[in-house]
Amino acid sequence: MAAQTVTLNSGHKMPLVGLGSWQVTSPEECKDSIRAALDAGYTHIDTAYAYQNEAFIGEVLQEYFKAGKLKREDIFITTKLWVTYHEKDRVSLCIDENLKNLQLDYVDMYLIHVPVSMRETGKRMGLYPIDENNKPAFTEVPLLETWKGMEQVVRDGKAKSIGVSNFNMKQIELICKSAAIKPATVQVECHLYLQQEKLFRFLKERGITITAYSPFGSPARPANIQKEGAPRVLDDPVAKDLATKYKRSVGQIHLRYLVQRGIIAIPKSSNPSRIQENLKVFDFKLSHGDMSKLASQDRKLRFFEGQEFKTHPNYPFGEAL
Ligand SMILES: NC(=O)c1ccc[n+]([C@@H]2O[C@H](COP(=O)([O-])OP(=O)(O)OC[C@H]3O[C@@H](n4cnc5c(N)ncnc54)[C@H](OP(=O)(O)O)[C@@H]3O)[C@@H](O)[C@H]2O)c1
Repeated sequence: MAAQTVTLNSGHKMPLVGLGSWQVTSPEECKDSIRAALDAGYTHIDTAYAYQNEAFIGEVLQEYFKAGKLKREDIFITTKLWVTYHEKDRVSLCIDENLKNLQLDYVDMYLIHVPVSMRETGKRMGLYPIDENNKPAFTEVPLLETWKGMEQVVRDGKAKSIGVSNFNMKQIELICKSAAIKPATVQVECHLYLQQEKLFRFLKERGITITAYSPFGSPARPANIQKEGAPRVLDDPVAKDLATKYKRSVGQIHLRYLVQRGIIAIPKSSNPSRIQENLKVFDFKLSHGDMSKLASQDRKLRFFEGQEFKTHPNYPFGEAL
């Protein structure tokens, strides 16, 4: 069963469910999960420069292209611009690197990963460059400058559609006001406990789709962003009851709720049976009453607060949800 699609403002179609790949950095785990997804009928994969797994994904794509099991036009690949490439002329350097790793001529969606820019210093803490005082090496590249670089990527044929991730409404509006090419999607944290209804309506008015990252609340997120005592999205009792009622898994109820709202979801799994399960959400429908029950479970609870970016002027998450 392939995912249903949504037509973007770029005219291209984007599958409503894709495979997430964050934290899948071991080559074998990554390649096996991509193979399991392609075999299950996935037509959409989400990755990023920062995930350090594009090369493994590229290897499997080549394997499937060469075996005649997949055609380039049948798969939707999203990847993202990293923070150290925000200067207009550096955007093309990053996408060239993304494309080389993925062994592709173009990606279907290219996103600015976060609205915060940093400069290379030769010294890093994890993915983030640090300065001589071991502080984050922030710079202030204007968002509109980066967006111009993103538009150039489309003109150069290296991305079919472009968008942003982790931007707030003010930042999205800034881009929309002067963009020659509007963002086609905005990728943000979105799940039962952070339903993003306000942002969803704001984007809908502007013809922009929303892509939900961490649709299960990212239960395996790293310890430094676990919140003591925070509720687990997958333990939600209303969703569990509905899983029994509809004879589906809890995960499928969460995903069905998102796609039925018209939201694109990119669940991560490295487990072949859960990979298959997560795509099987297009052959049932939640009733209006059950959609309302799930809507009432919102807690406006953000797990990804981007602490590492808090002192940057473009820190996005001060806005009311
Ligand atoms: N733009 C951004 O800044 C950003 C930030 C975070 C994430 N993302 C993207 O969004 C994707 C998804 O988010 P995420 O990885 O944070 O978390 P998620 O998709 O909410 O949750 C993934 C976790 O749920 C488990 N899982 C998968 N399917 C399940 C099911 N049917 N039932 C129960 N558990 C299930 C997985 O374990 P198994 O692997 O063992 O199945 C994994 O531990 C990422 O991989 C990435 O592509 C983007």
